[in-house]
Amino acid sequence: MRLQGKVAFITGAARGQGRNHAVRLAQEGADLVLSDICAAVPENMIRPSTPEDLQDTLAAVKAVRSDTRIIARPADVRDPGALGELADEAVAELGKLDVVVANAGILNYAEFEDYTLEQFQACIDVCLTGVFNTCKATIPHMIRAGNGGSVILVSSSAGLKGQPFTPGYTAAKHGVVGLANGLANELGQHRIRVNTLHPAGILTPMGEAPGLMTIIGKHAATMGPVFMNTLPYEMMVPDETSNAIIYLASDESRCVTGLQMKVDAGTCNR
Ligand SMILES: NC(=O)c1ccc[n+]([C@@H]2O[C@H](COP(=O)([O-])OP(=O)(O)OC[C@H]3O[C@@H](n4cnc5c(N)ncnc54)[C@H](O)[C@@H]3O)[C@@H](O)[C@H]2O)c1
Repeated sequence: MRLQGKVAFITGAARGQGRNHAVRLAQEGADLVLSDICAAVPENMIRPSTPEDLQDTLAAVKAVRSDTRIIARPADVRDPGALGELADEAVAELGKLDVVVANAGILNYAEFEDYTLEQFQACIDVCLTGVFNTCKATIPHMIRAGNGGSVILVSSSAGLKGQPFTPGYTAAKHGVVGLANGLANELGQHRIRVNTLHPAGILTPMGEAPGLMTIIGKHAATMGPVFMNTLPYEMMVPDETSNAIIYLASDESRCVTGLQMKVDAGTCNR
């Protein structure tokens, strides 16, 4: 129960890593504020989540700790009003926010000649502006409460290295690091810590990335190594990142801020 008494706000919680974080954080004692768009996002090449997926997350959380207090509803991270309302309601009902996990994301890819402005903009809107919107909705509550807190911005190995074929995603995920570093400096005075998480390939719907391997395969001789791990695991599982999220969310990391935490099977070392 490393998170007993804490309230965690998680975006992109309908499935994948977001769902796993919800379950694992609840297991550690946290109450939860969960959201997801539960619908298609233009230019996302990953299949959409559904309202049923979010309900399944609730059921999975209740199965591990039935008395978890949960507020869950669809919300688009591109919509600051929806996130603001959710955060306000959460504080009114659950009393406070201690942990923010800005996890929602989309992915698209193509060789650069075929990659469009629309694809680029969609990634910036969800993976960077959406993270900013999540911070704007939540952090003022944490400052006012005066309890400190932990903000975890989910980036990617593509936020630290020059991942080819994903210009919008790579740019947005790098942008998240700048946002986190600035906020870490500004919010330290309030004991609010801001760190980024950098996963490599994980077995979730996004990890499947249909068609991406074909593009990489065409350029394997030159760009294959950029995508390779150093540890002998081709793909990781969501518990790998949930372990890191629990550490960053808990008081065990009370002196950790401005960290770019790689959970990447070594790919960023290449
Ligand atoms: N799976 C991987 O290989 C991998 C690797 C590195 C980083 N990541 C990052 O991890 C995070 C979680 O991804 P995942 O692997 O669980 O993939 P996923 O596609 O299963 O989950 C992403 C979730 O975000 C939601 N979402 C998308 N756009 C949204 C929006 N506008 N508003 C609200 N919710 C929205 C989706 O509906 C989905 O439920 C993402 O930020 C992703 O970029 C994933």
